[in-house]
Amino acid sequence: MGKRVRVREILSASDAGVEAVVKGWARTVRVGKDVTFIALNDGSCMASLQVVAGPKLSNYAEVARLGTGSALAVTGLLVESPAAGQRFELQARSVQIVGPADESYPMQKKRHSFEYLRTVAHLRPRTNTFGAVFRVRSVLAQAVHRFFAEKGFLYVHTPIITGNDCEGAGELFRVTTLDMARPPLVDCSVDYAADFFGQATGLTVSGQLEGELFALAFGDIYTFGPTFRAENSNTARHAAEFWMIEPEMAFADLMADAALAEEFFRYLCRFVLDHCREDIAFFNEQIDRGLVSRIEAVASSPFAMMEYTEAITHLKKAKVSFEFPVEWGLDLQSEHERYLTEQVVGGPVFIINYPRDIKAFYMRQNDDGRTVAAMDLLVPKVGEIIGGSQREERLDLLEGRMAEMGIDPAGLWWYTDSRRWGSCPHSGFGLGFERLIMYLTGMENIRDVIPFPRTPRHAEF
Ligand code: 4AD
Ligand code: MG
Repeated sequence: MGKRVRVREILSASDAGVEAVVKGWARTVRVGKDVTFIALNDGSCMASLQVVAGPKLSNYAEVARLGTGSALAVTGLLVESPAAGQRFELQARSVQIVGPADESYPMQKKRHSFEYLRTVAHLRPRTNTFGAVFRVRSVLAQAVHRFFAEKGFLYVHTPIITGNDCEGAGELFRVTTLDMARPPLVDCSVDYAADFFGQATGLTVSGQLEGELFALAFGDIYTFGPTFRAENSNTARHAAEFWMIEPEMAFADLMADAALAEEFFRYLCRFVLDHCREDIAFFNEQIDRGLVSRIEAVASSPFAMMEYTEAITHLKKAKVSFEFPVEWGLDLQSEHERYLTEQVVGGPVFIINYPRDIKAFYMRQNDDGRTVAAMDLLVPKVGEIIGGSQREERLDLLEGRMAEMGIDPAGLWWYTDSRRWGSCPHSGFGLGFERLIMYLTGMENIRDVIPFPRTPRHAEF
């Protein structure tokens, strides 16, 4: 048997007449009067290759009884297909049944609901929709690295196990080797000094603080890694484990930060249109009719920018009734974010300069004494997709803010040190990778754009 060729390559071949070996899984098996048709999919592209198996095959009887989902290795001749909708088909010379599947295979039907497919997350990559989602995800991950490589950013791997809760929201998953049934105690609380790291540790909620230290050495850096948040919100946009891209730039203010975010976001839009044509066309047809025109518009027009204070004015004037209150000083909820980006602006919008009391300790305080140099990028259908800020580079103000917020400086001495020697204005942001994929595919639930979603009460596979 020759070398395996991917269906994607075969279907883009220039000529019929070549002999090929194709391996994949039967999506459908249709037994005709004289021959059996097998739609063979190997995940390399949306389309399946039609395999035509005739009675001359030594194992034809078995082939004609093949179940959906069977793994096959087919050798055959590529010929022009007489059937509509496909250029080529493969006339099988041999069909090797590598791994049979019977009628208990759960993916028999052509269409299943996304809810059902979440219960078979180990098999859903073998469907059209999830095949497309995870191909797009893979391409976008490559695009992220390409963008930053082209711009000369250093790629840094920040730790996954940390002692700091960067965002200060108390959403850290604990990492410990202590005996949960009988932990060592001091004064009735767990003695983490006796734990593996000699201190309390958890899974990172953000690589930002460590990223800042690298930005203050390498100028422009980014991280791209898994992030964990024990937030018990069962929404369509929150996962307990998600991936985040966090660039950080030295000698950069909030406007430079927003400019990078916009360039980056538009680059990713353009990239997916150029590199995932077939899959994006599928999403446009099956999932979200306005998808391609929306991505195209975003890829080619400048983003709006609005002060938080102005956003509150718009929301107060709105003729819709929101579930959550609108008041200067309160955080924007998803419904508010979507109203602003969908109804007020009709496209992506940066909201900048939020009240300092609803934002993290590290954000740079503005001269007005009540706001910080924060920015969120809101996009239609998803809401907040990027959160970022200029950082407080002035040691006294940073320490003052930490004291106000009750953050123990002892645990962050290494972070405040960066403001002690060679501090400089710097800025960065975090792009939620899953929210990006939701935006670019039209998929409406975060559980459907990450291979094995972790959400409250769900970590089985
Ligand atoms: O706004 P966030 O919390 O910002 C930070 O973590 C900063 N340290 C980033 C920085 O400035 N370097 O999170 C950034 C983005 C959000 O805009 C959202 O897209 C995504 O991360 N995100 C989540 N995605 C999925 N599930 C969750 N639970 C998420 N929480 C945040
Ligand atoms: Mg945020």
